[in-house]
Amino acid sequence: MPADARFPDDDALIARLPPGFRIGAATSAYQIEGAAAEDGRTASIWDTFCRVPGAVDNGDTGDTACDHYHRMPEDVALMADLALDTYRFSVSWPRVQPGGRGPANPKGLAFYDRLVDALLGRGISPWLTLYHWDLPQELQDAGGWPARDTAHRFADYAALVHDRLGDRVTHWTTLNEPFCSAVLGHVEGVHAPGGRSLADGVAAVHHLHLAHGLAARRLRADARRPLDLAVTHLLGTSAPAGDSPADREAARRADAFGFRCYLDPILRGGYPDDLVADLAAHGVEIPVRDGDLAAIATPIDTLGVNYYRSMRSSGSDEHGATADAQGRPITRGLPHGGLPVTGLGWEVMPHDLTALLLRIARDYPGTPMVVTENGAAYDDVPDADGYVDDRDRTAYLSAHLAAVARAREAGADVRGYLAWSLLDNFEWAYGYAQRFGLVRVDYPTRRRIPKRSARWLRDTALLVRGGA
Ligand code: NOJ
Repeated sequence: MPADARFPDDDALIARLPPGFRIGAATSAYQIEGAAAEDGRTASIWDTFCRVPGAVDNGDTGDTACDHYHRMPEDVALMADLALDTYRFSVSWPRVQPGGRGPANPKGLAFYDRLVDALLGRGISPWLTLYHWDLPQELQDAGGWPARDTAHRFADYAALVHDRLGDRVTHWTTLNEPFCSAVLGHVEGVHAPGGRSLADGVAAVHHLHLAHGLAARRLRADARRPLDLAVTHLLGTSAPAGDSPADREAARRADAFGFRCYLDPILRGGYPDDLVADLAAHGVEIPVRDGDLAAIATPIDTLGVNYYRSMRSSGSDEHGATADAQGRPITRGLPHGGLPVTGLGWEVMPHDLTALLLRIARDYPGTPMVVTENGAAYDDVPDADGYVDDRDRTAYLSAHLAAVARAREAGADVRGYLAWSLLDNFEWAYGYAQRFGLVRVDYPTRRRIPKRSARWLRDTALLVRGGA
């Protein structure tokens, strides 16, 4: 990203962040742990999906990934070197409750027990996500997220993890980006389990919401001490491509299906009427039963916001439609054009992060937020020692952190920024070719080498914490 994409006052904005503002980094279990068949772990839908020919670039899998399962102490030491005050990770459901039902697997839980103790020992707050896409395959075989029972299984699993770690972990996030699980996984077929059905995707959305609500209730009821309860959503803005009524209507539909569908049930107690009508026009009904909406609206303490980019919608081509000819909803908008892009071709739009946070503050008042993911894949070029001078990623991160600071100063209650990702890792359908890490992973040796961006984050964390 060229330096001119930044605003001149970015550094000053970052320097004015308050000392209590969290600065950290995030990962997820399947993307880093490896040890896929160790200590009683069973298969998840991603283990299965990776074996579908053509599903993942280069046929990559998470079998070994960054080998974090065996290198966890080294990775926590790295976080401490980077002065992170918060580490967001996810628990692997098939590791701690193989098959998704029944008793806990003691060896699986013991790993997270050691991780939490290691973090606390270094003064790093654990920010625990219960579900980052690795549904036990046995639950998929029983119907997966389109089946209502999966929500109940999730609440049991949440209670089981909380029972073991609730004495030490304060920050609990139920789900990561339900949009991706539901839509990329069940409608577009590009994520596990690879489904292509609008009705299944909509059922999955609702049962993910329900899973969140049932788990939130259980955790609140079981809590022996105050906990900070969150859910994380992938969010962006949906601008009309032009001024025409058709473009504005396309942007409304995109906003209903990609944004309000996720926040309204949790923060306003119901699905938006226009979304319900749009879906009905395609013969699809959200499978809401009595009592569901009250469970889903169980109060949360923090909204996790994952932000990468925003899109625009046009009414004059297929991108503006709610669904394509096969009845699958169009979930990807058009690029804005004329903007710098990351290695994945995603447009760099820090100003939209400010707009997004201010919109949430305006439309869902009283919701504290943390940016639980933000980052960029670039084509890293290591030198002979493996060091990556990633000025592009560093500029991306600093522009976005400044965008958060700008939103704060304009009134949005944003309390932290967690970069994606601590390590290069398994980038889902893109495999290992796309690197988001602050720290390079040399896959043949699994050696960790902090990049320039890691040093920037450390310096920034120290600056903010020092209140300088
Ligand atoms: C969001 C997901 O939560 C994470 O798993 C993924 O790697 C990043 N986006 C980058 O695509």
